[in-house]
Amino acid sequence: MKVIVVPNKDKMGAIGARIIAEDMKGRLFYKLGLATGSTPIPVYQELIRLNKEKKVDFSRVITFNLDEYVGIPGTHDQSYRYFMNKQLFDHVNIPKQNTNVPDGMAKNIPAHCADYESWMESVGGIDLQVLGIGGNGHIGFNEPGSSIASRTRQVKLTPETIRDNARFFAKAADVPKTAISMGIGTVLDAAKIVLFANGANKAAAIAAAIEGPVSVKCPASALQLHPDVTFVITKDAAANLTLKF
Ligand code: PGA
Repeated sequence: MKVIVVPNKDKMGAIGARIIAEDMKGRLFYKLGLATGSTPIPVYQELIRLNKEKKVDFSRVITFNLDEYVGIPGTHDQSYRYFMNKQLFDHVNIPKQNTNVPDGMAKNIPAHCADYESWMESVGGIDLQVLGIGGNGHIGFNEPGSSIASRTRQVKLTPETIRDNARFFAKAADVPKTAISMGIGTVLDAAKIVLFANGANKAAAIAAAIEGPVSVKCPASALQLHPDVTFVITKDAAANLTLKF
């Protein structure tokens, strides 16, 4: 595992975008796994800037997002489809049909999850997966206790995650109770993984992910099993590591 500690989220964004831009070079098609949440926003802002300067081209990029709420449409301002359009897709030259986010309104969710896996496989798998991390160590909506072999599926949100997300909805009862999420096994299939973390509230999860045992208690610890993972984290998120970077 490679760990890059940066002073602030702007630097995190700049380094993250550079890693992605470098990895994109010389490929006919680039398959990029994406994440929502506040953490990757500086990365997306930097990618938008590089795209405007014609240093990064999205015309042959195919994206797959990690997760989506079940029961709200992509037009809902709290859906992850909406978030991705606003934070990245609307501002770069990516063909919208190349952007994939699980469909939280799918009639047959298990079939949609299986299709989502097949689409990723049919394009040859993800070249680089962007990840955030929850304060409890979750990646995507793979909460503690998720199997390391899990694939894209419908998952229940924990009371903690529902509570964390309630601030974004008019009332707590409006927060979806389930989501579609790539599994940990799905994430581990990506050729390269870059996890971003910003803030002291992530310090315990980061230490558990990097220095703790591989355990379902911290889903991100499964990344220790992957041969090409980079953590780009701010100083405060790195504070609980015993190794100093
Ligand atoms: P955040 O969420 O980036 O908004 O902190 C990350 C996550 O829960 O995966």
